[in-house]
Amino acid sequence: ASPEPHVVVLFGATGDLARRKLLPGMFHLAISRLAPDMRIVGTSLEDMDDAQFRELAVRACREFSSRPADDDQLEQFARQLHYVPQEKGAEALSAAVKAARAALEGPTRLLHYLSVPPAAAIPVIQTLEAAGLVEGSRVIMEKPFGTDLQSAKALNAAIHTAFAEPQIFRIDHFLGKEPAMNILAFRFANGFIEPIWNRTFIDHIQIDVPEQLSLEGRAAFYEPTGAFRDMVVTHLFQVLAFVAMEPPTALAPEPISEEKNKVFRSMLPLKPSNVVRGQYRGYREEPGVSATSDTETFVALKCEIDNWRWAGVPFYLRTGKCLAEGQRIISIAFRDPPRSMFPAGCGVGTQGPDHLTFDLADDSRMSISFYGKRPGPGMLLDKQSMQFGLEGTADADDVLEAYERLILDAMHGDRTLYTTSCGIERLWEVSAPLLENPPPVHPYDAGSWGPSNIEELIAPLEWRLPFER
Ligand code: BG6
Repeated sequence: ASPEPHVVVLFGATGDLARRKLLPGMFHLAISRLAPDMRIVGTSLEDMDDAQFRELAVRACREFSSRPADDDQLEQFARQLHYVPQEKGAEALSAAVKAARAALEGPTRLLHYLSVPPAAAIPVIQTLEAAGLVEGSRVIMEKPFGTDLQSAKALNAAIHTAFAEPQIFRIDHFLGKEPAMNILAFRFANGFIEPIWNRTFIDHIQIDVPEQLSLEGRAAFYEPTGAFRDMVVTHLFQVLAFVAMEPPTALAPEPISEEKNKVFRSMLPLKPSNVVRGQYRGYREEPGVSATSDTETFVALKCEIDNWRWAGVPFYLRTGKCLAEGQRIISIAFRDPPRSMFPAGCGVGTQGPDHLTFDLADDSRMSISFYGKRPGPGMLLDKQSMQFGLEGTADADDVLEAYERLILDAMHGDRTLYTTSCGIERLWEVSAPLLENPPPVHPYDAGSWGPSNIEELIAPLEWRLPFER
């Protein structure tokens, strides 16, 4: 059933995330049959009126919507948008929300979306309290949630003065990606995979998310944040939990969080000597970046989950900006068979281990690579692969982008794909040795695969990417 009509209060409404993902996502939800009737009240530090905000939103939907945007539908969507500059204060916001509620029929629900950096979250919560907009509402908090353990705890304490835990939705959009959910489907719906998903059969795991993108005008956010806080402590660790967790007792928020949090509790604190930080050449000349910046735009690390299932299996994580390719893969490398009957020179083992690879791209591809016989005389082996894609298997209207799915889930009050405060606090604890003693940043060329010492980090193993080397 569709949830009750919603007023969405969008903080950071003119920012990069709002323009790229949130406004186009809400446009798609508004025109699809999936979401309820809604009004959106945007607010941010910029001074603009309804008309200017509508223009910005329509432009954003035209530029970033993943589906064709029809003019009539855009015009209709624009009429559902309102704007209040943040400096006008709590009363003006309250009045705008009241007017938006009046435009909807029947009982309505308020959903606040805090698309703001960690430091701005507490003042926003205070504004919501002052505006009397807390009761019965829900609030989505953007990542990163805090910048270290202490600030995450302070942020949690501040939110809890206003909101009860069931009202709070801490978002991590990687968990809303179709392929991330497919990890759960693949692992827990198939009898053939369950028995081998452990240290006896798996040698190591890589979660590799290189990006070609650079700062995209986000220096003010990125400079104090860096690749580790932007991507690893959030997205990569969350995805790692889906890969590593024990089977939950049900596909429901508490059982899933419980199992994910156990993974986080079993993670060993990160050793700075197992981390490579990098910065692309030219970063310090970017507008808004300090000439002596120490911010990492690249990070690669080894982490370990010290539990029954994973003891001794290293997890290698890597991500960064301005790299050679944009990819988002999870690669599971299997152990070699106990002994080889094949003669030297037949090719076995020369092209790396067998792999199962999940591609977190939107069409949810998976592949298995393994050794097979090369046709012809004798016994020569080559790496073969089987691929599966889920594209085209669903009605296009039912396909949801990560943010769309998660916003819709929040409207339904479903926290299954949201993160929890104790999980997040544990991840900051795991990260503390690195944050307190960060290794130096190594320069790397834009368009490369990062600093050269990433090979040492993983040796004698190899990075799975690039695929065609
Ligand atoms: C965001 C980060 O959370 O995720 C960005 O702030 C990053 O720096 C982005 O580019 C990647 O998301 P996606 O969905 O494009 O893989």
